[in-house]
Amino acid sequence: MTDKKLSIPVLLGTPRKNRESGNVANWICGKMRGRDDIETQLFDVCDFELPHDNYGTEIGGDFPEWRDAIIRADGLVIVTPEYNHGYPGSLKSVLDLLLKEYIHKAVAFVGVSAGPWGGTRVIESMVPMVRELGLAVTFSDLNFPSVGSKFDDEGNLLDEAYNKRITGFLDELVWMATTLRWGRDNLSSKYHQ
Ligand SMILES: Cc1cc2nc3c(=O)[nH]c(=O)nc-3n(C[C@H](O)[C@H](O)[C@H](O)COP(=O)(O)O)c2cc1C
Repeated sequence: MTDKKLSIPVLLGTPRKNRESGNVANWICGKMRGRDDIETQLFDVCDFELPHDNYGTEIGGDFPEWRDAIIRADGLVIVTPEYNHGYPGSLKSVLDLLLKEYIHKAVAFVGVSAGPWGGTRVIESMVPMVRELGLAVTFSDLNFPSVGSKFDDEGNLLDEAYNKRITGFLDELVWMATTLRWGRDNLSSKYHQ
């Protein structure tokens, strides 16, 4: 087993002006950067000039930074708000830019909502979609209900309980990402697509 850090980008899944999910994504990236077993990079759906007419062709190459990060990645954290119990269209469009690059890598979800459920519904709705991408979902989500009251004006998290939750969330992701990396490194020639 290699001691190389796991590469786990974070994808911020909404382009909405004044989005609260930005505070969540920044806080999670800070926590990931504080660990010695993970390296991360924040991707923002705002930064993608998304195509309108040529999905399904080899367009991942038009987004080399994203494509190369996912090729290098051992896992992915998706920060998604809940919009009408679903996920933002731009988040789906960014994920659809690639396909085989995701296969047998771990994904962990962070749900964000104004309401009391913390994005549990949007996460459940994303599971079958990411399965089709070949991603393997962890069983520890992180949920931010009533997100408007969770951060101060500078983006500092006000609820101490999340400092314990993030440890369990990331430990589970590291376990999955490490296990899948071992499988890709050692079993690929026999089984990996
Ligand atoms: C189009 C739209 C639909 C929404 N639907 C829901 C919803 O179904 N449930 C919920 O709890 N909040 C809903 N919200 C509120 C968001 O969860 C809230 O804006 C929260 O801050 C997270 O999204 P943000 O990152 O865009 O701020 C919705 C917001 C928008 C813009």
